[in-house]
Amino acid sequence: MQIPLKPVVRNSGGTAAAKSTLDDAVATELDATLKKIISKLNYLDKQIETVKKQNEWTRNQLQRLEAVILTAEANLKTQSLTRWEGDEADLKLTWSRELSGDPYIRKVMEHCDLKGKRVLEIGPGYGRLFKALKQIVPDFASYIGIDLSTARIQRLTDQFEENGRVRFMCANADSFSLDEPIDVVIFTLTFKYFYPSFKRRWGTLNSI
Ligand SMILES: C[S@@+](CC[C@H](N)C(=O)[O-])C[C@H]1O[C@@H](n2cnc3c(N)ncnc32)[C@H](O)[C@@H]1O
Repeated sequence: MQIPLKPVVRNSGGTAAAKSTLDDAVATELDATLKKIISKLNYLDKQIETVKKQNEWTRNQLQRLEAVILTAEANLKTQSLTRWEGDEADLKLTWSRELSGDPYIRKVMEHCDLKGKRVLEIGPGYGRLFKALKQIVPDFASYIGIDLSTARIQRLTDQFEENGRVRFMCANADSFSLDEPIDVVIFTLTFKYFYPSFKRRWGTLNSI
């Protein structure tokens, strides 16, 4: 709100000439000071209006940015899942080379004997870890492999399923649950693809 720039102190019209002169001088000085104060107040008023407008603009920009980030995040999450749901050629999963799972299973065995253990694998792909497990530790208790791709799960089932002991299930590591206990979780080249991080999946694994 603008305050009008007008004098607010007037000569009261005193009796003595000297007093009148003094009153006039004081009044004039007061007028000038008040004008300065009013002018400053008006300036501050304008500044406050400007800051308010800038805040409004910044808030709008932040809201737009937040919407863009949320959309991008939702898209990335969808992409991180749809990327694996298809039926890409097996070797595409490991840089167009068939890789052995033996070194991985042997390394696991250095830390934990898989003999007699109930094993869960996240993202078995074309089953190289399972092949190695079967060969190196044939007397594991049971194995469940979960993968996003229905086609891959079908192939793994056709190739490896042993009634009861070995099962493959189409499931998302984000949200699956098991109705039986497991002892060991194995995975390779899988968690790095989880978006936005594997923390949440880790939570899922801890809860089964
Ligand atoms: C790069 S491949 C690795 C395959 C295998 N582990 C290997 O090393 O040969 C990644 C695998 O993880 C699976 N995968 C990716 N995200 C998954 C998720 N959220 N839940 C279950 N499986 C997932 C993919 O379908 C794919 O089979």
